[in-house]
Amino acid sequence: MFIDTHCHLDDEKIKDRLDQVVQDFTNANVSRVINIGCNLPSSILVKDQAEKYDSVYFAAGFHPMDIKEYCKEGEDGIISLLSHKKCVAVGEIGLDYYWEKDNKERQIECFISQIEIAKTMKLPINVHIRDAIGDAVKILKDNKDKLTYGGVMHCYSGSIEVANELLKLGFYFSFGGTLTFKNARNIPEVASKLPIDRIFTETDCPYLSPEPLRGTVNEPKNIPIIAKKLAEVRGENVEDLANQIMKNAKTLFTKMK
Ligand code: NI
Repeated sequence: MFIDTHCHLDDEKIKDRLDQVVQDFTNANVSRVINIGCNLPSSILVKDQAEKYDSVYFAAGFHPMDIKEYCKEGEDGIISLLSHKKCVAVGEIGLDYYWEKDNKERQIECFISQIEIAKTMKLPINVHIRDAIGDAVKILKDNKDKLTYGGVMHCYSGSIEVANELLKLGFYFSFGGTLTFKNARNIPEVASKLPIDRIFTETDCPYLSPEPLRGTVNEPKNIPIIAKKLAEVRGENVEDLANQIMKNAKTLFTKMK
């Protein structure tokens, strides 16, 4: 059985045909998915979807590209979602200096606030970092005492050196379609070196479809393609790896059944 630890089923390309999408990933032996919120309305929608389907769990938070909407009311809304029995993480949160360069200070502020919320709510964090790994590592180290419930670096594309520092902080690393891209040389190498009890598979659906499906709408049903590639670069058996990844998910996301 496979797991998708990061997908966006609230996306326009998915939400109106969700019954079919769930049926398709169930047929592909994907038995759990974590549906990730990016702002308050999105977090409410992923919660509603999680209530409808047994295999769907969710995370709530403000994505760095959505922090224009971060306010007291939004924060309170997120906090109330976090105590839901199917809410397994705060996320996605983090820093994105690729798409948003002009509000770094504000991104950092909202990232730290949400790390604090995760500690209070006893939840792990689901972290998005793009072109900001230096600042991210510094923030995470400075806030080490608030990382009691751990976290995952989603779609990890950093170096093994940075990964080693993050491992010490209790982080997990999730790999998706980019692992299969022909031009992504360092990702398979890093993925092959990490401990088996600290890795996950994800799609980031509807984005980042794996080879040979690049350019199509990604869905959780594509997880077996990613798991197969991950097993291949690590020299492991795909079923054993998938079982271990499910165990890892239940260890980090403690509310997941
Ligand atoms: Ni995402």
